[in-house]
Amino acid sequence: MKIAVVGTGYVGLVTGTCLAETGNQVTCVDINEQKVKMMQEGKVPIYEPGLELLFHRNISQKRLLFTSVLADAIADAEIIFLALPTPPGGDGSADLSYVLGAAKDIAKLVTDYKVIVTKSTVPVGTADKVKAVMKENTSIECAVVSNPEFLREGVAVDDFMKPDRVVVGTTDERARKLMGELYAPYVRQGNPVIFMDERSSELTKYAANSFLATKISFMNEIANLCELVGADVDMVRRGIGSDNRIGNRFLFSGIGYGGSCFPKDVQALAKSSEENQYDFQILNSVMKVNEIQKKVLVQKLKKYYKDTLAGKHFAMWGLAFKPETDDIREAPALYIIDELLAAGATVTVYDPEGMNNVKALLGDKIKYAADQYEALSGADALLIVTEWSVFRTPDFERLVDLLPSKVIFDGRNLYDLQKMVDLGFYYNSIGRKI
Ligand code: UGA
Repeated sequence: MKIAVVGTGYVGLVTGTCLAETGNQVTCVDINEQKVKMMQEGKVPIYEPGLELLFHRNISQKRLLFTSVLADAIADAEIIFLALPTPPGGDGSADLSYVLGAAKDIAKLVTDYKVIVTKSTVPVGTADKVKAVMKENTSIECAVVSNPEFLREGVAVDDFMKPDRVVVGTTDERARKLMGELYAPYVRQGNPVIFMDERSSELTKYAANSFLATKISFMNEIANLCELVGADVDMVRRGIGSDNRIGNRFLFSGIGYGGSCFPKDVQALAKSSEENQYDFQILNSVMKVNEIQKKVLVQKLKKYYKDTLAGKHFAMWGLAFKPETDDIREAPALYIIDELLAAGATVTVYDPEGMNNVKALLGDKIKYAADQYEALSGADALLIVTEWSVFRTPDFERLVDLLPSKVIFDGRNLYDLQKMVDLGFYYNSIGRKI
């Protein structure tokens, strides 16, 4: 099939590359000419495991092309994916100007039937708005389909190639058939392509992310309670997760959810509920709990150092909002750093991929170490913020040598409690005994 992907951000690039991998002819278009040039030269603009291999393979097979000219990208395309940003506007609702702007530009160019697919996370009713824009600007009949993405950063290629499910919202029969054919190679193991109307599909995306965020906030509250009653959240997690109705995934307590999706999507769903005169009470609590949880390590530090963080120096392992990404958007690390600096402490950080992004944001407000052990030099305590694999099994002897205070605050529960006691550490983690 001939495909165009408008927008080569994270979602667009993974979508375009993975669609080329099954033999489709894909042209990705972006207004950023410098980025397009970079991709034409074979450089992947984001860090995503597994993407580079597919990217190069499909470029060399000439199945994956890049352009900054929309007309060139869509001329032959049967399906046009819109993978454009929908940033939160000032009031928390999603800003649709990129999506609707692209729809207008496309409408002015089309000469035959196209399937326009919204891949971005968009509020309920957006497909109708895109349809209206198309109608206003062309008399050519086109279908507008909602096809939300459920990719997780860090495992996006796998998620696209072997999805748990694909959700397609359309009432157009021709579009339904084309979308079914397009996704057939990705659901060979029998995972479903679930067809529904556009509004249900749009809401499915928000409901999925909000439900997952709810699971996390719930477990974070259980963890906080565990600390007060002397229970162990890891045990509780295993205890409840083995009930199939609950499921054992996404139950890890920590320092709050971050990233470019959960915070934005939970907020947008709460906002759109409000606009529809519905008070979505659980979501408001989910957000409130997360705000508090992002600061839980700082609260623990304040308690330990009796409210005097001024003059203290901390080593921080991890900056990215989760492992296997360089993404620091809404990363708990940034909130923690802010609070520590405001309290008069200093910080040296290390992250395998997130350092450049943080340097660009914070400059010399903090220090940057070349590796995880260098970060420990002179630190009063070590803070573990992102659960990168390299932090899971450190050289404990070296750690003992380099961190004479033997104080660790772990926001990701990486280590065995007994082991830490045996090694003589003061080890404060989330929802577990000290
Ligand atoms: C999330 C969803 O998982 C994807 O399905 C969705 O497609 C994507 O948002 C999106 O809307 O584009 P992502 O933001 O990449 O994916 O990251 P997740 O792996 O879901 O993690 C989100 C946050 O939750 C992270 O801060 C992570 O540390 C936290 N988390 C996750 C927990 O605190 N506990 C857990 O058990 C799992």
